[in-house]
Amino acid sequence: MTDDHNKTEKKIDAVSGVQTTGHSWDNGSLEELNNPAPRWWVIVWLITIVWAIGYWVVYPAWPTLSGNTKGTAGWTEYKKLAEDQAEITARQNVYLGRFEGASFDQIMNDPELYAFAVAGGRAAFKDNCATCHGSGAEGGKGYPNLNDDDWLWGGDIETIYQTLKYGIRSEHEDTRISQMPSFGKDGLLQPEEINQVIAFVQSLSQGHEGAHAEEIDAGAQVFADNCAACHGDNGKGMREVGAPNLSDNIWLYGGDHDSIYESVFNAHAGVMPAWVGRLDNNTIRELAVYVHSLGGGEATPAAEGDDQPMEEAAPVEEMPAQETVKEPENDGETSGNNEPEQEQPAE
Ligand code: HEC
Ligand code: HEC
Repeated sequence: MTDDHNKTEKKIDAVSGVQTTGHSWDNGSLEELNNPAPRWWVIVWLITIVWAIGYWVVYPAWPTLSGNTKGTAGWTEYKKLAEDQAEITARQNVYLGRFEGASFDQIMNDPELYAFAVAGGRAAFKDNCATCHGSGAEGGKGYPNLNDDDWLWGGDIETIYQTLKYGIRSEHEDTRISQMPSFGKDGLLQPEEINQVIAFVQSLSQGHEGAHAEEIDAGAQVFADNCAACHGDNGKGMREVGAPNLSDNIWLYGGDHDSIYESVFNAHAGVMPAWVGRLDNNTIRELAVYVHSLGGGEATPAAEGDDQPMEEAAPVEEMPAQETVKEPENDGETSGNNEPEQEQPAE
């Protein structure tokens, strides 16, 4: 534009009768008329000026040597934050009230409550669990992956809740507990027998290829005599004692020969802390819902009832009727007395 822009005399334009500005293009054939800005535009412009001045008076605006002008409304970022926070807390309390009174069944069937629980559980997981299980709950050596459907102790929500509440080999008296013997260290098996049983264990997930059939057969006998009581006849694991499935090629401590040798020679005993005194009951329940939501969550046995031993299925079926009673079994006096005390701090 500037290239071919010339200055000409200001004059009255013959066609419109308006004065020109004295700017012209294309050798004077195109001239600019000096029309005033449209009235509506000027009015809007004036309004914005008035608005801006009003804003400076009412709200904090200009920097000064000692900080900034405060504004007559007393508005601050901190106040706004506090108000927003109060609103969020109030809204959370509405959900928390509903959440507190709801059974897991009700939570699962209420999309709003469910979303609330998963969000709360995700946050609590980052704070309390990610150090051991990883921020995506993917686990690591000795720390189970919580996203898959391979469970040591069980993946329905009540079972997860129980695991979180009391822990595994924790200091709580109601902890889940079991201990695989250290077959090598305690001289229960000779190194040769350990190698045989490893060949058998590996054949469960990797087939018979490469290994000697006799060694595997001998290992099968060692397994039946020493391992099946916990890991099951065909190595599928046993949740009552937290014994891992050895046939699915998912390993807590590694599936190569040396790792399995280590697991059998010097048995592991993974420890998961109890959360009952450290987190309130709502948070533990949110965590249970969150872990259950990660992908491996299983239906409560009462609904499905498949491959659950009879003595397990019976008390679980009574659960909906006695939702507030957390432990169906009441045989140990100590844990029976203990129960109400634990519920109180959660209120
Ligand atoms: C100090 C480390 C540690 C922390 C912290 C921890 N865990 Fe664990 N968790 C473990 C270990 C180890 C196991 C496996 C125990 C075993 O070998 O049986 C485990 C097992 C579990 C299981 C059982 C998995 C199954 O297959 O049955 C669940 C569920 C679980 N953790 C959830 C959580 C949640 C939720 C949190 C946070 C509130 C948490 N863990 C915090 C170490 C930890
Ligand atoms: C008293 C019950 C019990 C007996 C008997 C037992 N185990 Fe275990 N085994 C367990 C438990 C429980 C774990 C899980 C330990 C943990 O979570 O820290 C385990 C873990 C393992 C692991 C590690 C699995 C993995 O995913 O890394 C291997 C391998 C194993 N056992 C093999 C054997 C073999 C082989 C025998 C027989 C020689 C045997 N176990 C006997 C209870 C038992």
